[in-house]
Amino acid sequence: MTAAAGSPHRPVLLAEVLAVLAPRAGKRYVDATFGAGGYSRALLEAADCAVIGIDRDPTALALGAELARRFPERLTLIEGRFGDLAELLAGRGIGTVDGVVFDLGVSSMHLDTPERGFSFRFNAPLDMRMGADGPTAADLLNTLPEIELARILFEFGEERRARRVAAAIVTARQQAPIQTTGQLASLVRSVVPAAHDGIDPATRTFQALRVAVNEEDEELRRGLLAAERVLNPGGRLAVVAFHSLEDRVIKDFMRRRAGLIPGPSRHQPGPAAAGRRQPTFQLLGRRPVTAGEDELSANPRARSAKLRAAERTSAPPAMGHGPETEVP
Ligand SMILES: C[S@@+](CC[C@H](N)C(=O)[O-])C[C@H]1O[C@@H](n2cnc3c(N)ncnc32)[C@H](O)[C@@H]1O
Repeated sequence: MTAAAGSPHRPVLLAEVLAVLAPRAGKRYVDATFGAGGYSRALLEAADCAVIGIDRDPTALALGAELARRFPERLTLIEGRFGDLAELLAGRGIGTVDGVVFDLGVSSMHLDTPERGFSFRFNAPLDMRMGADGPTAADLLNTLPEIELARILFEFGEERRARRVAAAIVTARQQAPIQTTGQLASLVRSVVPAAHDGIDPATRTFQALRVAVNEEDEELRRGLLAAERVLNPGGRLAVVAFHSLEDRVIKDFMRRRAGLIPGPSRHQPGPAAAGRRQPTFQLLGRRPVTAGEDELSANPRARSAKLRAAERTSAPPAMGHGPETEVP
C-alpha cells in the first residue's frame, strides 16, 4: 500500500473531547476509533492514565506503534471492531473503564489513499473496506439485488433517486462488472442531476456504499451498547458523528438511556416497563457540541462534526449481557 497522499489526520473537536473525558491518573480510557491516534496521544499526555486504542484497520494500528513505544506501559493497541468492545477488553483481562470515545467514520488516511477506493477524487478499484476482510464495494455493487441496492442508497445515503441509481447500476453490470470509483461516479452523475449547492451527485451513493460495506450502522448500535456495559459509574461516553444518520442513533440512544424518551426500543417491553428502568446515563449538555470558527478554518472536515456526551450512572446496563444488536 502506498503512503497516504494527503496531510495526516487532524483530530476533530479534540479539546472538547478531552474536556468531556477529563482524564485522571490511574484511570483507564478506550479510544474506540484509534485512527491516527490523535485522541489517544492527547489523553496520554494529559494525565498518567492508561489508554486502550482500538481500530479495525491494521494500517492505522501499525502507524500507532510509535506512540505505543513512547507510552509502553500505558497504551494498548487492539485490532478489532468496536461493536466487540466488551469482548476485546475481556480478551486483555479488562472488565471496566472510565471513559470511551468514538470518532466515527473514515480517517483522512482512508480518503487520501487512492487504492482504498473511498473517494471519487481518484480513479481506483472500488474497495471501501476499513478492515482487512469482508466483501468490497465492488462485490456489493455487482451482486446485490436491485431492491437491496436501492434500500442501501436510500437508507444510508439519503439518496432520493435511489431507485433510479440502483436500476442504472443493474443495467451497467449486465454489460460488465463495475470495478472502479470513476465508473461508479460517472454512472451516478448520468442519472442524478447536479445540485445547486455544488455537492457532487455521487457523494450520497459513495457514503451509502461505505456504510454498507463496513456495516457502520450495526457497529454503532453495538458499540453504544458495549460502552454502556463497560463504563464504570461516573465514566464518560463521548461520540463524534459526521452525518445525520449516525447523530440520530446517538441522540436517541443517549436520551433513551437518560430516561428522557419514555418509549421502548423495538425488542424491549412496553412503555410502563421501560419507564420503570433506572437511567444508565445522564446527558452532559442538551445540545451537541460543534466546532468553533478557529477549528473550522483550520480543518474543513470539522464542519459536519457533532459531539454528544453522557455520564454513566450506577444503574445496571439496560440490556442483558449477550451480543445484542437491537435498536438502542
Ligand atoms: C475518524 S477516524 C479516527 C481518528 C482519530 N480520532 C484521530 O484523532 O486520529 C475513524 C477511525 O475509526 C476506525 N473505525 C471505524 N469504524 C470502526 C469500527 N466499527 N471498529 C473499529 N474501528 C473503526 C476507522 O478505521 C478509522 O481509523
